[in-house]
Amino acid sequence: MRKLIILVTLFTLVIASVADARIRVKGRGDRMNFDPDSIPANYRASFDLMSRKCVKCHTMERTVIAVQTGRAPITGQPFDRQAVKAYGIKMLRKPNSNMNKQEIREVVILLNYLLDENAR
Ligand code: HEC
Repeated sequence: MRKLIILVTLFTLVIASVADARIRVKGRGDRMNFDPDSIPANYRASFDLMSRKCVKCHTMERTVIAVQTGRAPITGQPFDRQAVKAYGIKMLRKPNSNMNKQEIREVVILLNYLLDENAR
């Protein structure tokens, strides 16, 4: 019995730490986004920027899935720090992206933070 209790406790701890490390997600499908409450205050401005600018051509679902799974959902390419930078530049260069370099830089820093949080 004692062994079982120890096992259950360990299991709960592992699950709790995994759930803790991950940035929470709200909504489904087109309404999916990172939960603003799980974004620290110093990243809020970048988060607002991303939530406004990166939904011009597609919803946030694409970005959320890429961060949560580590794979870009359309091409299936790995979505890591290097990819984040490449995608930032790719999205910036798209016609009518309506973003400048500084804005892309902010979103890239935010996405790297989100990736790091998920990896913990
Ligand atoms: C001007 C339109 C436009 C804007 C603005 C835009 N995207 Fe995209 N995005 C696309 C298109 C089109 C695709 C489809 C695949 C491709 O062209 O790479 C895409 C695909 C993606 C993918 C999936 C890529 C894959 O290979 O599976 C991610 C992730 C993504 N965008 C993130 C972002 C982020 C983050 C921003 C804001 C910095 C953003 N997008 C802004 C047009 C846009």
